[in-house]
Amino acid sequence: MQHRKLRLCLVGFGKVGRAFAELILREHDRLQSEAGLDLVVTGICTARFGSVTNPLGVDLRRALDRANAESPQGPFEESTAFVATCPADIVVETTPLEPFTGAVGIAIIRAALTAGRSVASANKGPVAHGLRELRKLAGRQGLQYRYESAVADGMPVFNLIERTLPCASVTAVTGLLNSTSGVVLDALSEGRNFSEAIRRAEALGIVEDDPQYDLDGWDAAVKLCAMSAALWDKPIHVEDVKRTPISEVLAPEAIDARAHGNRLVSLATLQSKPSDQVVRAAVEICEIGPESVFFALTGTSLGVRFESSLLQPITISCSEPRLADTAYGLLADVLHIGLEGSSRT
Ligand SMILES: NC(=O)c1ccc[n+]([C@@H]2O[C@H](COP(=O)([O-])OP(=O)(O)OC[C@H]3O[C@@H](n4cnc5c(N)ncnc54)[C@H](OP(=O)(O)O)[C@@H]3O)[C@@H](O)[C@H]2O)c1
Repeated sequence: MQHRKLRLCLVGFGKVGRAFAELILREHDRLQSEAGLDLVVTGICTARFGSVTNPLGVDLRRALDRANAESPQGPFEESTAFVATCPADIVVETTPLEPFTGAVGIAIIRAALTAGRSVASANKGPVAHGLRELRKLAGRQGLQYRYESAVADGMPVFNLIERTLPCASVTAVTGLLNSTSGVVLDALSEGRNFSEAIRRAEALGIVEDDPQYDLDGWDAAVKLCAMSAALWDKPIHVEDVKRTPISEVLAPEAIDARAHGNRLVSLATLQSKPSDQVVRAAVEICEIGPESVFFALTGTSLGVRFESSLLQPITISCSEPRLADTAYGLLADVLHIGLEGSSRT
């Protein structure tokens, strides 16, 4: 099969960026023969470990070894300048989330689109806080800005609605959107104390630097903001999402729910009626029984249920997602961009 070279610059080379690089290394030949795309990483930019570019292709194995050893990649370059000059068709953005502004991610994506590069991003901040502007800019530039892995890792949340259920008129989204919450609530229900429950989540490597961010519901709240902006073009403030934090006071309730054959979960809900400009968003602790579509999704597992005007509710789930799932979400975006091209190519 004839193939076309697609040059990728990675901005952010932490857990997700590296999982994406590993995926590209592993799947490169198959993608070339099956999708006709020769994916070549031509640049990597980090905050503390410098950057590297090579128009012919960076040695990814070496870059991964250096990153794993916390060795510098090369000279320091500011990320917005880097995306403007790197030899890339697509910028793969995986910088850390800023839940209340998304500012750094927005600046990087804006700079990439302005410089004529499409963007695949795992960062939900820019979706929650800057989607309208970034979509307009991508449209004006004849480029794509895609963000499938920003919510629920590799699960096709945005692509499902955009590609598979066009004009279905989604009215509500409910989901288990935060793995740490699931692990901690399950551990509390087994009689573990709060610190043990958090340690269990930490041992799985899924906890944010500050676990309170997950446990207080901020992570799920930003995901709801991202979905409101993406599905309905109705941005909402993360501070306006009603949240019930997870703390040790929930332990007796969690144990009691388990004794009755039920579970406590942190359920995120988003509702918008076509007649109603108001979006209702909440992250709440709920007791669910075996009749719930989310009951079987224990531990780190995630699920999302869509209600719409035209269909009965549809639920998708992912059993114990890993970093490789998030990396796949980015790869799906890259492949969509590469296969569909932009109106410039
Ligand atoms: N981890 C997950 O399971 C997961 C799942 C879905 C989505 N996400 C999202 O994916 C993104 C990345 O997550 P992660 O877990 O990979 O984070 P991470 O391990 O903290 O890595 C972040 C990377 O971004 C770099 N960086 C920070 N600021 C930068 C800047 N201004 N310019 C260039 N690079 C910069 C960091 O460089 P230094 O190392 O040099 O500081 C690091 O390489 C976040 O937005 C997160 O919310 C994560």
